[in-house]
Amino acid sequence: MTPFQDSFGRSVTYLRVSVTDRCDMRCVYCMSENMVFLPKAEILSFEELERICGAFIRTGVTRIRITGGEPLVRRDIDSFFNALGKYIHKPGDDGHLDELTLTTNGSRLSVHAEMLRRAGVRRVNVSLDSLDFERFGRITRRGRLDQTLEGIRAARDAGLAVRINTVAMAGVNDDEFDTLLSWCGEIGADLCLIETMPMGETGEDRTDRYLPLSTVRADLERRWTLEPLSLRTGGPARYLRVAETGRLLGLITPMTHNFCESCNRVRLSCTGQFYTCLGHEGATDLRQPVRDGASDAELLALVRDAIGRKPKGHDFVIGRRPDDPAAIRRHMSVTGG
Ligand code: GTP
Ligand code: 5AD
Ligand code: SF4
Repeated sequence: MTPFQDSFGRSVTYLRVSVTDRCDMRCVYCMSENMVFLPKAEILSFEELERICGAFIRTGVTRIRITGGEPLVRRDIDSFFNALGKYIHKPGDDGHLDELTLTTNGSRLSVHAEMLRRAGVRRVNVSLDSLDFERFGRITRRGRLDQTLEGIRAARDAGLAVRINTVAMAGVNDDEFDTLLSWCGEIGADLCLIETMPMGETGEDRTDRYLPLSTVRADLERRWTLEPLSLRTGGPARYLRVAETGRLLGLITPMTHNFCESCNRVRLSCTGQFYTCLGHEGATDLRQPVRDGASDAELLALVRDAIGRKPKGHDFVIGRRPDDPAAIRRHMSVTGG
């Protein structure tokens, strides 16, 4: 099977699927305090999502990451994981998945960890920006640290590999990276630090919070032995091995070190908008064609066409105001990162 290629020769093998715009948290860099969520009719049903995912798998997409909002707040999410899990290592030439995974805030992971493992998920990325109870509450606006910690514990107990995602914010959590590295070593998880991306109006000025990870790395290297690795997990993270703990430290640097030249990914929003780049507004609607009874071939013609127009890369600029015409108005929660 030959995956679709864009005009820069990049093969598209990785699909991120947002199953809901809703979330039980309101992280300061992701959402505004008063988010208005979409009515149910706008959201793709699981049947529609499965149909579209199946079509992508038949074009050579071998990795799917489920995102949100928070994917685990969607009702009956287990049925969706079970349906997609059937594609994992499926024999035959009709396409298969090498990996099915998700990014979650962990609040409901204790309920779902076993189900995910049974469906074929082997690793999860859990967002956690602080181990301090009050600070976690301030950053997530309504998250509960104990629930996320309980979720992480349940994931480990269910045999899932865990990567902690921490958005690095100057003056907010930059005094906690050592603690997070040690803690991840203790619980047997990897850590991934992420530069804050300027997407969507969040009601907070992110400019002053921006922290280049090159600086963070140089500082960490004074106390930790960080060995560069060539390992990639299909995403933008570049990994280092932390000699003292044996775990990995990932760095995602969209602002200081663009990784777009090796981009293999596309995104489906929960309303069926197909985005070929996180850092661009343009999208192709797949919902209406699906609801109008388009065939797989018709759907894939739209997808092929959109992939042919996949932009060379994103253009996030530090300090760009949200009202700048070039700013990305879409919230991160629309496409799940
Ligand atoms: P792996 O499959 O484990 O490599 O995961 P990932 O890092 O791709 O996914 P995750 O959902 O954990 O996202 C971590 C961070 O990477 C989030 O802040 C995402 O917004 C960001 N991210 C993921 N893909 C892209 C991308 O193509 N471009 C940019 N700029 N950021 C991305
Ligand atoms: N910049 C960087 N990362 C972000 N995330 C959400 N919003 C932003 C942003 N503005 C992260 C979350 C989660 C992942 C899907 O994206 O913390 O781990
Ligand atoms: Fe919810 Fe994740 Fe956005 Fe936080 S970053 S508000 S947990 S979708």
